[in-house]
Amino acid sequence: MIKTIEWKNKSVKMIEQTLLPEKYKVITIKTTGEMWQAIKRLAVRGAPAIGIAAAYGVILGIQDSKAKNWIKFKRELDKTTKYLSTSRPTAVNLFWALDRMTFCAESNKDKDISKIIEALKKEADKIFKEDQRICRAIGKNGLKVVRKGACILTHCNAGGLATADYGTALAVMYAADSAGKNISVFADETRPLLQGSRLTAWELMKAKIPVTLICDNTAAQVMKEGKIDLVITGADRIALNGDSANKIGTYSVAVLAKAHNIPFYIAAPKSTFDFTLKNGSEIPIEERKAEEVTCGFGKRTAPKGVPVYSPAFDVTPAKLISGIITEFGIIEKPNMTTIKKHFGL
Ligand code: MRU
Repeated sequence: MIKTIEWKNKSVKMIEQTLLPEKYKVITIKTTGEMWQAIKRLAVRGAPAIGIAAAYGVILGIQDSKAKNWIKFKRELDKTTKYLSTSRPTAVNLFWALDRMTFCAESNKDKDISKIIEALKKEADKIFKEDQRICRAIGKNGLKVVRKGACILTHCNAGGLATADYGTALAVMYAADSAGKNISVFADETRPLLQGSRLTAWELMKAKIPVTLICDNTAAQVMKEGKIDLVITGADRIALNGDSANKIGTYSVAVLAKAHNIPFYIAAPKSTFDFTLKNGSEIPIEERKAEEVTCGFGKRTAPKGVPVYSPAFDVTPAKLISGIITEFGIIEKPNMTTIKKHFGL
């Protein structure tokens, strides 16, 4: 599998995803500030990977702490987590991982500072390793919805580059491929930052899974031509009623799938659910810089000064979602009742 992110020699190694597919470069992140930047500029992206990056970002901030007591250490820890929490607002995995790190520190507060740091490092590694197992479980659980020879459409990148292993939406495709289901994939290009063409197409080609790249505005046409059997995407935050935020454009794909009677699935771990939000209207949506639309990848494609609106995510209402594939199984027809039952809440 692709090593998207890993801890090595008191620092974090990660693939510089902004350079893919032209250049494969591994960068070293040594400080919390560098990690904040890496998350913000999408060197590391995708909800689960952002959570892992944040957990290791905490370690970078406190591993050489000179604090002599818990109060002083906790002050440093809070400063670090608060800072990292401002990097990106939508993927709840970021906040989930930071909360886990804080909880871990608090549970060890009576120990020596060096022992608390040790416990925190173990917790970050645990978040990483858990994600590997979760990807595999999502892949296996998703097999049920993929028939032999199926052609699956996906949007953005919810693969190995977005997780510690082989993804969420793409996990289902990798698992189906290994199970000999002879699947093929249509990857939406995913304007404006092209995670579909730069990352998903790259990943699937590397894995030798047949993939066809389409412009985002081609999705309706391929559905009408009867080329698509099902849609699977990832998610960045799922509200208690099943409304799911994912990369901008996912909502339109879900509407199109409904219009063409094509099942639309989300694949996401429990850590992507935000049980504190009743519905999708409460999900904070990140807005990105105008230049990403008007001057993407260095080529100006719009007049200077034109006003731009660029939300990075949209929310697909639960009623358009056939099911949510998690590490525990599939939530068919997601709503508050089925979601609560699924997680035993
Ligand atoms: O802006 P990005 O590239 O971080 O957006 C990523 C997505 O929207 C993914 O689909 C989502 O995080 C799920 S990744 C398993």
